[in-house]
Amino acid sequence: MALVDPHSFTDSTHPFATHISLTLYFDFASLTIHGSAVLNLSTQHTGSLHLDTRSLTIHSVSDPSSDDAPLPFSLSSPDPIRGTQLTVTLSNHSALRIVYSTSPSSSALQWLSPPQTFNKTYPLVYTQCQAIHARSVFPCQDTPAARVCYNARLNFPRQLSAVMAARHVERRAPIAGEAAELVCGDSMWCAEGRVVEEFTMEQPVPSYLFAFAVGEIGFREVGPRTRVYAESVPAVLDSAAREFASTEDMIRQGERLFGPYEWERFDLLVLPPSFPYGGMENPRMVFLTPTVIKGDASGAQLVAHELAHSWTGNLITNKTNEHFWLNEGFTTYAERRIVEVVQGEDRAVLNIGIGWRGLKETMERFKDRLEFTKLKNNQEGVDPDDVYSEIPYEKGFQFLWRIERQVGRPVFDEFLKKYIATFKFKSIDTDTFLDFLKTNIPGIEKDIDLTLWTEGVGIPPDAYEPVSILYTKIVSLANEFSLGRMPREDEVSDWHGQEWELYLENLPKSVEASQLLALDERYRLSESKDYEVKVGFLQLAISSKCKDYYAEVEKTLKEVGRMKYLRPLYTALVQGTGKEEEKVFAKRVFAEAHESYHPIAQNVVEAILSKHV
Ligand code: BES
Ligand code: ZN
Repeated sequence: MALVDPHSFTDSTHPFATHISLTLYFDFASLTIHGSAVLNLSTQHTGSLHLDTRSLTIHSVSDPSSDDAPLPFSLSSPDPIRGTQLTVTLSNHSALRIVYSTSPSSSALQWLSPPQTFNKTYPLVYTQCQAIHARSVFPCQDTPAARVCYNARLNFPRQLSAVMAARHVERRAPIAGEAAELVCGDSMWCAEGRVVEEFTMEQPVPSYLFAFAVGEIGFREVGPRTRVYAESVPAVLDSAAREFASTEDMIRQGERLFGPYEWERFDLLVLPPSFPYGGMENPRMVFLTPTVIKGDASGAQLVAHELAHSWTGNLITNKTNEHFWLNEGFTTYAERRIVEVVQGEDRAVLNIGIGWRGLKETMERFKDRLEFTKLKNNQEGVDPDDVYSEIPYEKGFQFLWRIERQVGRPVFDEFLKKYIATFKFKSIDTDTFLDFLKTNIPGIEKDIDLTLWTEGVGIPPDAYEPVSILYTKIVSLANEFSLGRMPREDEVSDWHGQEWELYLENLPKSVEASQLLALDERYRLSESKDYEVKVGFLQLAISSKCKDYYAEVEKTLKEVGRMKYLRPLYTALVQGTGKEEEKVFAKRVFAEAHESYHPIAQNVVEAILSKHV
């Protein structure tokens, strides 16, 4: 047995699946998908084949090429992180069919009831598969070391429509006999009022990039290869279309910097506020939180990030989560290069500054878990959702920026293009990157301590805090706050959310309640439409024990499910001593709010509460 990934049962001595055919029947009443998955293997195989599953009921495994003759299989007892190993015994087989059902608690799926949607008329379901949740939607080799093509037939009520991170083939009536093997049977598949949509993904992708949403979904055209999809509400669609109007511009910049855009379409899907991330780079169809739609074009940065993944992450993929910085560090670097062109250097430097602050703070937070301050780290027995942080993003960015400073931008740009062209559609690890770097920039290891950067803890001494007039001004204004000086109106008149975010991040952890109230009275930060600002302020209010804001904290925790906001607010409430009242408050709010969170967010908040309460 040879495991390739601490988060997967995949065995590297077994062939990988190269193509998966999915047939999925959506039962909104029971929050269940009845599915069939046909896996085609790269070669014929004899002996056992290990697949990842989580909260799936396996009804049967069979050989699709000989009349679905049954194949022996067994399930392990569930592992809290990896889920349940499905072992199938093959003899000279190159394909297998698994008939299964998901469970209402499948960790990738959020099922929203009609009242939880904007129009309140129809239900909606969507996936979030990164890091290791695809296995709760279909049995697979759920490691980014493996890549598959797939097609999918989705059957659901005809009032709804489906989108996928794949090419749309057709919408049509169900056909008798096409899904006879499913446990729901042909009669339910073909029942009155059902419709089928078909999709195909012809480029090989890691399983974490599998994605769909089914609901009352509409769209607007925003560019030659871009539509924005969202719940079918004219106001939501129109504001999303305005927010993302500059997308085509960014795609062109991306192509100029990193080479051809390989995925044909770049559509955007704006999800309900419970979406647990800011954005997810699902190929051809990025998933986004609605919290970025504020009418000030700030969503462009988020789109720049997810777009940049089209090259770094989706074309070149980290082999396992232990090399996650290869995805996120490169993408953060690429995102900032795009932002620099479309929004100007000042904005890009401000982003680097915000990132730098975040990195310092996160290092502090991880001072008892130094392993996860390394770019390349050991995640044996570790749930990637529990150690998710800014470190791979910002330390990874700093590492690449350091190399850029060493060799100069023109050389680094050529290097990046060559790196992408060389490893596209491959999954690689940190050493593969370092070898390529040393080969293409000979002697680099004499100027930069590559081992310290990739294997060392903390922030290397040659990391670099950005200098810009704006950045320095904000930091010094924040320092003056502790001396009792609040910024004057004329000093902040042209500030956007990001300036305030940086200002708040640079204030002391705990300040006088009276000072906070005065600041808020003047600038209304607790009511900001910008969640980064609002949450930054509320976090400070909690750590300063300023109870005036707890009602606003509760409201915020009940209206959004983005973990970037849930994590710091819940942590601020329960961390530290003398917090009895806050702990009771946090537990009550979570009890009332958890049903509206995605399962991944529920687990993350539960982990925070159980660690401290
Ligand atoms: N791929 C990530 C989101 C992710 C990471 C999901 C790990 C699951 C596990 C995505 O590209 C991302 O980084 N999103 C950020 C955007 C930000 C950096 C602009 C987010 O959601 O905050
Ligand atoms: Zn990312």
